[in-house]
Amino acid sequence: MKVLITGGGGFIGYRLALALLNKGTLSNAEGQQEPISQITLFDMAFPENVDARLKCVKGDLNDIACVETALGGDTGAVFHLASVVSGGAEADFELGYKVNLDGTRGLLDASRKQAKPPRFVFTSSVAVFGGELPEVLDDGTTPNPQGSYGAQKVICEYLVTDYSRKGYIDGRSLRLPTISVRPGKPNLAASSFASGIIREPLNGVPSVCPVGRDAKIWLLSPGKVIEALIHAYELPSSTWGVTRVINLPGNTAVVG
Ligand SMILES: NC(=O)c1ccc[n+]([C@@H]2O[C@H](COP(=O)([O-])OP(=O)(O)OC[C@H]3O[C@@H](n4cnc5c(N)ncnc54)[C@H](O)[C@@H]3O)[C@@H](O)[C@H]2O)c1
Repeated sequence: MKVLITGGGGFIGYRLALALLNKGTLSNAEGQQEPISQITLFDMAFPENVDARLKCVKGDLNDIACVETALGGDTGAVFHLASVVSGGAEADFELGYKVNLDGTRGLLDASRKQAKPPRFVFTSSVAVFGGELPEVLDDGTTPNPQGSYGAQKVICEYLVTDYSRKGYIDGRSLRLPTISVRPGKPNLAASSFASGIIREPLNGVPSVCPVGRDAKIWLLSPGKVIEALIHAYELPSSTWGVTRVINLPGNTAVVG
């Protein structure tokens, strides 16, 4: 089975690729474990010293010809992680919609052209929620995004569900909470501080927390999000039925 990971050069995408290399197989439509024959990473940038077993295709999600080349016509598994992150999509309205909405739509249409409908995992976000919220959010809580990024994610959830209803893909959207601790430098995500307040002091670097001690954050570790992505992928289509969107579990902590 061929696997494509968009955003495969990123924080979660590259870790997912290494986990899939280690696993070696993925469940197919018949529920049998099928050997992974190739993992292609699609991204605009890659880490140094990428594992030689991975194929890297450098390109922009909005370049459909490049996306189609990366898919190659016979990809059975698509993990769609490429995205302009929350703060970036809020700061650059045009770029956010272009990549997060138009890019996803283009990828979905390219996925339709595969020999068989691929299984398609989309990384949505808890940023789809906002406004007045209940104490506990569940899969039935109505999304009410208060930013462009959350709006783009919830629109794409509907696209993934509708393309699945039509049988063009076998899609699943996972709403990721904040993944912490993210290594490296701070990024443009609004929740970047959730890693920064742990990572920077460990490196002897000061970190300014932009929210109060009582601010709640819904957290999941890098290891657990990779497990969840693979688990959600492997669940049979019948498990999902008409509901193609779930919130990933996590722990809620206050900054203090
Ligand atoms: N990390 C989190 O806390 C978190 C929380 C909620 C949702 N998510 C979602 O999970 C996914 C992965 O997140 P991450 O933390 O690994 O982010 P990341 O920024 O590390 O990786 C995203 C990758 O997408 C690539 N990309 C951006 N625009 C592109 C374009 N036009 N064409 C091709 N590639 C492009 C970037 O180069 C980057 O490598 C994203 O969809 C994100 O919205 C992440």
